[in-house]
Amino acid sequence: MSDDDTPAAGPTPFERLGGEPGVRALVDRFYDLMDLEPAYAGIRALHPADLDGSRDKLFWFLCGWLGGPNHYIERFGHPRLRARHLPYAIGIAERDQWMACMVQAMDEQGIDNALAQRLAEALYGTADWMRNKGG
Ligand code: HEM
Repeated sequence: MSDDDTPAAGPTPFERLGGEPGVRALVDRFYDLMDLEPAYAGIRALHPADLDGSRDKLFWFLCGWLGGPNHYIERFGHPRLRARHLPYAIGIAERDQWMACMVQAMDEQGIDNALAQRLAEALYGTADWMRNKGG
């Protein structure tokens, strides 16, 4: 409890992941895996040859989404993620590859299981909403 008797909010997921260095390490692992693992070749093919820009954008976005600084919004305004993904054909297979890649990255980064599961559930909602084609 703080001085004015308001319950402490507790650390944000951003803080629990280790702030910017932790989020950056997670994003880098995510895109390294996308590059390396044949299971994610389908979504890798949708991305540019050079992943540097994708790494930066996902890092900036996730910092804010996790309760940290709003780097993405400061640079690009409202995320409009569904609209920004319309140029890429995303169906169930792509959604599931993205989620599997993120779950593997969180596991390999040693993120606490309960936190990883909570984040995966929230990310699934976003990933599912990004679908823009049948199948
Ligand atoms: C459902 C499967 C998904 C696929 C196949 C996918 C694929 C892509 C691709 C190909 C790009 C363009 C990369 C680039 O401009 O360098 C992109 C951009 C982006 N994605 Fe995804 N994505 C998916 C889900 C998600 C989810 C769940 C999130 C957030 C939690 C996300 C966040 C972003 C962001 C922030 C950008 C940058 C948008 C911009 O400023 O242009 N994506 N995604």
